[in-house]
Amino acid sequence: MMPMLSSEEEAHSRAVSALIHERIRAAGGWICFEDFMELALYAPGLGYYSAGSVKLGPDGDFVTAPEISDLFSRCVARQCAQVLGGEGEILELGAGTGRMAAVILESLAAAGRLPERYAILEVSADLAQRQRERLGTLPRELRERVVWLDRLPERPIEGVILANEVLDALPCRRFALRGGVVRELGAVEGGTVAEGGAVVRGAVLAERESAADQVLTGACEALFSDLPAALPEGYTSEICLRVAPWIAGVANCLERGLMLLFDYGLPRAHYYHPQRTAGTLRCHFKQRVHDDPYINIGVQDITAWVDFTRVAEAAVASGLDVAGFSTQAAFLLATGVEQFMADAADTVAHARLAGEARRLLLPGEMGEAFKAMALTRECDVALEGFALQDLRRSL
Ligand SMILES: C[S@@+](CC[C@H](N)C(=O)[O-])C[C@H]1O[C@@H](n2cnc3c(N)ncnc32)[C@H](O)[C@@H]1O
Repeated sequence: MMPMLSSEEEAHSRAVSALIHERIRAAGGWICFEDFMELALYAPGLGYYSAGSVKLGPDGDFVTAPEISDLFSRCVARQCAQVLGGEGEILELGAGTGRMAAVILESLAAAGRLPERYAILEVSADLAQRQRERLGTLPRELRERVVWLDRLPERPIEGVILANEVLDALPCRRFALRGGVVRELGAVEGGTVAEGGAVVRGAVLAERESAADQVLTGACEALFSDLPAALPEGYTSEICLRVAPWIAGVANCLERGLMLLFDYGLPRAHYYHPQRTAGTLRCHFKQRVHDDPYINIGVQDITAWVDFTRVAEAAVASGLDVAGFSTQAAFLLATGVEQFMADAADTVAHARLAGEARRLLLPGEMGEAFKAMALTRECDVALEGFALQDLRRSL
């Protein structure tokens, strides 16, 4: 059963939907899925990430690895320490509640490897506020190093760029194959809905296919030619054309060092497997996962898995080296997750950490679906986090 919306959520969702209806009408009756996702998540002051709701954590819509356990962030800190060596800076993109930033700073302080600066670029004003509150509780020595940016830094950094579960939040396009032709999925004003006895026209949105433009057709043709098997009739999936410009923009900010990305995703040939006929789009609402982006508009998260081959190609085109690609489990084991568990103060703490570690590591939980990718520039360090597993050949 899908949880009910509170009256506030209902009102908020109505406002976001009204904006989307307006855009659909202005566009002549249809907008592509990428535009729908952009509005639902990021419309200024209204979208899921732009407006205030709990989002992350047990009381929100979903939990991420840094929210499940500080073990994750301690392992990331260890990888940062190896690259930073006590200088340089960290730039975190999409820092959520700020919990990972706090644990990384505490861990690096304990290791005597504090970065000169910990910069955060956050598109959500609401989450940036939560980050300020969380990081404001750190000792002055640490909190003074944290700065918030409103755009990517103009001066490239030396150090580490971090992004956990950011790529999956980039708006993507959706396509379906009909008679060998690529069609694009998008949103139209749909049907009617009864509300308090009155019938409100166009109060709901519906999915509709349209002719694909040249950009999508070209991108899909390039994609299909790179796959080992042809895709069947009706095959529906996503393609994120924002990955390449996003990676290029972030790569420009890295003069020397490491970009470390974590997300759920797959190499291309697995992502676009002929049997994955309905794609990977997922919505998160109050800890429920479902695949209908046209409900709970503006109050639920919408994500799609990441095609890591596309990420690697974009990185190489931007002059970065793909220095590592592994499962999240292999990354955490290589960066000492077991040792951090063993450091627990007592058996109760150890049992709690063991439970958290299981969620991070087990294949049926986050261990295999989530991947870690290391992209480097002028960084000849043999990265600790990727010493146990090298999946780069699958890309
Ligand atoms: C799923 S949350 C992950 C938050 C956090 N990294 C964590 O793991 O708990 C996605 C985050 O990415 C941010 N975000 C989305 N698009 C972004 C972009 N283009 N640049 C920077 N941050 C972005 C969101 O506001 C949010 O903080």
